[in-house]
Amino acid sequence: MRFSFVLAGATIATAAYVPGKAFDRFITIWLENEDFVAVSQNSHMQALAKEGILLTDYYGLTHPSQPNYIASIGGDYFGLNNDGYITIPQNISTVVDLLDTQNIEWKGYFEGLPGPGFMGAGSTAFDGSGWDYVRKHNPFIPYDSINMNGTRLARVQSFADFDNDVKANTLPQYAHMSPDMLNDGHNTTLDYAADWSETFLSPLLTNAQFMNNTLILLTYDESATYAIPNKIVSILLGGAIPANLKGTNDSTFYTHYSILATLENNWGLPNLGRYDVGANVFDLVAKQTGYLNHPPSNIQHVNDSLSYAGFLNSDPAKQIAIPPPNLQLVGAGGQGVIQSVKSTWLQQQNEMTPYDGSGTVYDGGNGISDLNSPVYKVQAPAPNATAIATSTVAAPTATETKQSSARKTLLLSINWAGVGFGAFAIAAFVL
Ligand SMILES: *[C@@H]1O[C@H](CO)[C@@H](O)[C@H](O)[C@H]1NC(C)=O
Ligand SMILES: *[C@@H]1O[C@H](CO)[C@@H](O)[C@H](O)[C@H]1NC(C)=O
Ligand SMILES: *[C@@H]1O[C@H](CO)[C@@H](O)[C@H](O)[C@H]1NC(C)=O
Ligand SMILES: *[C@@H]1O[C@H](CO)[C@@H](O)[C@H](O)[C@H]1NC(C)=O
Ligand SMILES: *[C@@H]1O[C@H](CO)[C@@H](O)[C@H](O)[C@H]1NC(C)=O
Ligand SMILES: *[C@@H]1O[C@H](CO)[C@@H](O)[C@H](O)[C@H]1NC(C)=O
Ligand SMILES: *[C@@H]1O[C@H](CO)[C@@H](O)[C@H](O)[C@H]1NC(C)=O
Repeated sequence: MRFSFVLAGATIATAAYVPGKAFDRFITIWLENEDFVAVSQNSHMQALAKEGILLTDYYGLTHPSQPNYIASIGGDYFGLNNDGYITIPQNISTVVDLLDTQNIEWKGYFEGLPGPGFMGAGSTAFDGSGWDYVRKHNPFIPYDSINMNGTRLARVQSFADFDNDVKANTLPQYAHMSPDMLNDGHNTTLDYAADWSETFLSPLLTNAQFMNNTLILLTYDESATYAIPNKIVSILLGGAIPANLKGTNDSTFYTHYSILATLENNWGLPNLGRYDVGANVFDLVAKQTGYLNHPPSNIQHVNDSLSYAGFLNSDPAKQIAIPPPNLQLVGAGGQGVIQSVKSTWLQQQNEMTPYDGSGTVYDGGNGISDLNSPVYKVQAPAPNATAIATSTVAAPTATETKQSSARKTLLLSINWAGVGFGAFAIAAFVL
C-alpha cells in the first residue's frame, strides 16, 4: 500500500485512514496495580468481560509502574526499576516511528494533563489537592524521539481532547489512555477504578461510530503483590470483537509487548528489533492473519517482578549500555526492522544483542537467583521464523497457519519517508 507523505507543521495533519487486517483502530486504557485474582472477581470487571474477551495469561513486565508504560511503546524498559523523571535518547525508536511509516495517526490521552505536550513530572487536581496527572504513567513523554519533536508532542493530549475527538469522529487509529491517579485506582481502590472503567466505557460501547472496527485493550500496568508473578487482568473490547467471542476467555500468553506485536501484525508494520519481535499477537487478530503464536520457552519461570540490568537502572551495579537492536529480525508485520533504526544502529550490527525474536521472557530474578536474565547472542534471524502470510487473510476459523518455519527471505517494502536521524547531541541524562 502506498501513502503520500503528509508534511506536518505545527498543526496536526489529517492523514489518510489506513485499514487494518483485524481492526482499524486500537485504544489501550491503563489502570494501576492490581492482582489478577482480585480483579477477575470484581463485578464491574466481570460485566465488562461479558462484552469482550478476558485475557487470562497476561503479564506485566516488572515493577513499579513506569517501566511497564515505556516498554509498551519502545519494546524494552532498558533496566528501569523506578518511577523517577527519566529521558530516553533520540536513537531509541517507538511505535510512533512504526506508525509513521504508513501515516497512521496516533495520540496519547492523559486525564488531568494541563495542556498538549506537557512535560512536567505531574500536575495537581483543579482543587489543588494532590497530583492527578503523573508523567510516570505517560509512555510517550520520556522518549526524546517524541519530546524533542513538536509535531509529536502536540499529539499528547487530555481526556477533554478525547471527548472532543469522539464527538467529532476524529479519533486517531492508535491511542494510549491513562486515567488520573484516582480513576486508575492508584490512590483509590480496585472497585473505584473498576466502577470508573465500566462507567467510562459503557456509553462508548454503544456508540456505533466509536465502535466501528475498534479494538480496545483495558489493562493494568502491573500486579499489586510483588512476591507473586506479575499476572494482571486485561480485557479486549470493541466493535472488532466477533460476536461469538464475546464473554470468552483467551489463555494465550501475553505481555505488554503483545501490543506492539499486534499493531505490527494488523497493519503490516516494520518492527523495532527489540522485545516486540517474538511477543504473541492477540489471538483474535492472529487467527485472522494466520500468525502463529507460541508460549515462551521459559513460561514456567515467568515472574517479571524485578528489573534486569540496563542504562535506566538506578543500581550502579546494574548499569549497562543500551543494547543494539537485532537488525536481522522479521516481526509480526512480516517486515524487517524499521529503516531508520537500521541506519542508526548499522555500526553496531556485529555487536551482541539480547533480542533474539524467540519470545523468551527476561526479568531480574527473584532476589536470590537470576534464572531469567537477558542472554546476549550475535544478531541473527529468530529461531522460530515469526513471518506471517503477506497476502490474503485466512478465515478466522482456520487453525492452520501460513507461517513457514523456514527462514524465508521477505522482501521489505518500507514506506519510510521521514529520514534524518543523523547525529544528535543529547545532553539530558538522569539517574
Ligand atoms: C496520589 O498519591 C500520591 C502518592 O503516591 C500523591 O503524591 C498524590 O498527591 C495523590 N494524588 C491525588 C490526586 O490524590
Ligand atoms: C465504519 O467505517 C467504514 C469505513 O471507514 C465506513 O464506511 C462506515 O460508514 C463506518 N460506519 C459507522 C457506523 O461509522
Ligand atoms: C474465565 O476466566 C475466569 C478467571 O480465571 C474464570 O473465573 C472463568 O471461569 C473462566 N471462564 C471460562 C468460560 O473458562
Ligand atoms: C545512542 O545514544 C546514546 C546517548 O546519546 C549514545 O551513548 C549511544 O552511543 C548512541 N548509540 C547509537 C548507536 O547511536
Ligand atoms: C518454537 O515454536 C515451537 C512451537 O511452535 C515451540 O514449541 C518452541 O518452544 C519455540 N522455540 C523457541 C525458541 O521459542
Ligand atoms: C518472583 O520475584 C519476587 C521478587 O520480587 C520473589 O519474591 C518471588 O519469590 C518470585 N516468585 C517466583 C515464583 O519465583
Ligand atoms: C517529527 O515527527 C513527525 C511526525 O511524527 C515526523 O514526520 C518527523 O520526521 C519527525 N522529525 C524528526 C526530526 O524526527
